[in-house]
Amino acid sequence: MGPRRADGYHEIATFFQSVSLADTLNAAPARRGFSLRIVYEDAALRRAVGQIPGPAGLRRKVARARGPATRWGGRSIGPALERVPAGAGNLVLRAARLVARSTGLERGTRFTLIKRIPTRSGLGGGSADAAAAIVALDRLFALRLGGARRMALAVRLGSDVPFALRGGTALGLGRGERLIPVRLAAPFRALIAVPRWRVSTARAFNQIDLKNLGLTGWASNLRFVQKLTARRLKPDRALGLGNTMERALGARRSDFLSLRARLRAVGIRNPLMTGSGSAVFGLIESRTSFAEVARRFKGDEPLFAVRSLGLGQRVVSR
Ligand code: C5P
Repeated sequence: MGPRRADGYHEIATFFQSVSLADTLNAAPARRGFSLRIVYEDAALRRAVGQIPGPAGLRRKVARARGPATRWGGRSIGPALERVPAGAGNLVLRAARLVARSTGLERGTRFTLIKRIPTRSGLGGGSADAAAAIVALDRLFALRLGGARRMALAVRLGSDVPFALRGGTALGLGRGERLIPVRLAAPFRALIAVPRWRVSTARAFNQIDLKNLGLTGWASNLRFVQKLTARRLKPDRALGLGNTMERALGARRSDFLSLRARLRAVGIRNPLMTGSGSAVFGLIESRTSFAEVARRFKGDEPLFAVRSLGLGQRVVSR
């Protein structure tokens, strides 16, 4: 992490990676106006609940299934998913309006978003949805935006949206929008655990400033990560760099350390926070079964099994 800039953003150096946990955005042309319907789909690994046979086991199952609904309320609709704004604040609609304004598009679109990526957890789900909306409108109305214009629109929607457009593996510099494509030494599998508590990205960056953490070793780190892009990148090397955001957690630090220790206990060697958190992920060996790791994991954080992908978006026309 580098210094805060005059525009309020921070210089960063971060590796981005597309993975197989994805939302789906359906777009159907309409005469005018943009609308959005959101459907939530739980993509977490199924965990054994209430394994004790007989009525006791059954009771436990019922208790656990009911617990979250009564305890959480608010935005939460399950262990991993919480409601995102369905109105004008949603990144899909913000992206659509921006495309319409900058191209003069007069037609409208009915969007349906199938939301599987946990929100506010540093997994880039909102950015992926915004990028998908740009691509969908471009294709639906043959706007012929081209790569450079798509990228210029993306960066106005968020620092991570340019990567969401491009996908694959990349080093993100600047505020995250300057992308250097990277070749992975080999595809990998990873496990992601998502705590119930979430982090606001802006707040995490503020903490970095307050604690004066950003500049520690910035220049030499920057040189080092840039060198890493010259060759095929081993995921372990990238993970070895750590994540400065882990030091900005404040009161949540003990929860994070507990989750990291529990992931280590099931064989995940170097668990790391994703982006500004709160999700934590780690590589899983090709011989190890996700189901087995999920069974041994102690905790009620939802777990997601993912593999690395060379593509960010897959466009399907009907
Ligand atoms: O660009 P995006 O909307 O995703 O960023 C959310 C917030 O995170 C920004 O308003 C800013 O406070 C902070 N941020 C930052 N430096 C970055 C990226 C984001 O300070 N490189």
